[in-house]
Amino acid sequence: MNNIQSYISKHKNRFLNELIELLKIPSISADSVYKEEVLKTAGAIKVSLKEAGCDTVEICKTEGYPIVYGEKIIDKNLPTVLVYGHYDVQPPDPLELWTSPPFEPVIKTSELHPEGAIYARGACDDKGQMFMHVKALEFMTATNQLPCNVKFMIEGEEEVGSSNLATFVKNNQEKLKNDVILISDTGMIANDVPSITTGLRGLSYVEVEVTGPNRDLHSGLYGGAVANPINILSKMIASLHDENNRITIPGFYNKVEELSKEERAEMAKAPFSLEKYKKALDIEAVYGEAGYTTNERNCIRPTLDVNGIWGGYIGEGAKTVIASKAFAKISMRLVPHQDWKEITQLFKTHFESIAPKGVKVKVKPHHGGQGYVTPINHIGYQAASKAYEETFGKTPIPQRSGGSIPIVALFEEELQIKTILMGFGLDSDAIHSPNEHFGIWNYLKGIETIPYFYKYFTELSK
Ligand code: BES
Ligand code: MN
Ligand code: MN
Repeated sequence: MNNIQSYISKHKNRFLNELIELLKIPSISADSVYKEEVLKTAGAIKVSLKEAGCDTVEICKTEGYPIVYGEKIIDKNLPTVLVYGHYDVQPPDPLELWTSPPFEPVIKTSELHPEGAIYARGACDDKGQMFMHVKALEFMTATNQLPCNVKFMIEGEEEVGSSNLATFVKNNQEKLKNDVILISDTGMIANDVPSITTGLRGLSYVEVEVTGPNRDLHSGLYGGAVANPINILSKMIASLHDENNRITIPGFYNKVEELSKEERAEMAKAPFSLEKYKKALDIEAVYGEAGYTTNERNCIRPTLDVNGIWGGYIGEGAKTVIASKAFAKISMRLVPHQDWKEITQLFKTHFESIAPKGVKVKVKPHHGGQGYVTPINHIGYQAASKAYEETFGKTPIPQRSGGSIPIVALFEEELQIKTILMGFGLDSDAIHSPNEHFGIWNYLKGIETIPYFYKYFTELSK
């Protein structure tokens, strides 16, 4: 890849400004108020892909937000890389915790980002990381160094479960035909410790509703004599973990893959400081399943967490009331071999079974998806590894992540193709949180590393 560094330094300001323009559009897929903005973002991506050198770009309609598809086919006999990313973002709430408005990107420096980071919702997840691929394509086409065919598929519903993308993939197998899928929507260990994500957890997301009396009651007149749905819901949720922090749902662990001692020892080699971890989160101790380290707890072990809980009176002052209903949103992160639909069913059966007489329980499944692993002997992994060696001067560490990108397992099921996860974000980038940011160094390093993936993947495919 000739002149990549000089190309980047020459165009650095434009690369930043183009991303900043994209980050100004609030493409929040979860909230229909932003519909026009989400659609506008799709249009902006289409223009960028065309300018970067795609021969054809189209906005593919779905029942939800559209998928932007682009391609540049240089020779049918050469391999094809399919790039996936998402242009939708999470809602920015709570707004008052942002130090600058989420859709008015600003550059600030910090200890971890001495060269500056762009602060905005979507900076890292995933507009910034997706746009690295657009700029890497621009470099390869502008300098005549694209070594293979490329297809782009950028969706607008990742943060809400990708259900329309699943249909699109099923119905467009021929159009999407490729040799490897490349995604930057994960992270790495540190800027001086490059890593490649080799696993993603699956997900089962449910909402529960506990109903007691048919109306809110005076807590003095009725308290103690009828089931209080909030008390009951709290008790039911608390019972979902035992004293070792293992999940108590019968059958939950049946299909969990137990890693060998050797595999766990290999994983434990990744640099990690428990002290720094606790300090960054301002906690005195970590917490989790007995018998596993922090890194194991959040990547090779399944978990159950309440994401939100509500009911009763939460306004100013006090109101003496027993609410008629209590609610919670619960997510379960799953590991490979656990089937999310089966786990959702196990949860439902168990949760309904532990409800005491005097309340009614409803379990409403939301979305979900399967876990995923990339074997490190796959040529895509090897090509990525060589690419990082080239630009970081170090061999990257394979690392499983705790997050989920459900569509990756579906790509494997429908297209029989493995995905390579080249993430350039850091855990401290605060994705889904207030003050999300993405290091400028990381953004430019991604743009520099991606073209080498194309080069080595094409070479290794011969
Ligand atoms: N990019 C994230 C997933 C991610 C982040 C994986 C960091 C690994 C490391 C993605 O946009 C996301 O937020 N996924 C959701 C699931 C989705 C179904 C809403 C998640 O993991 O909660
Ligand atoms: Mn993402
Ligand atoms: Mn996300």
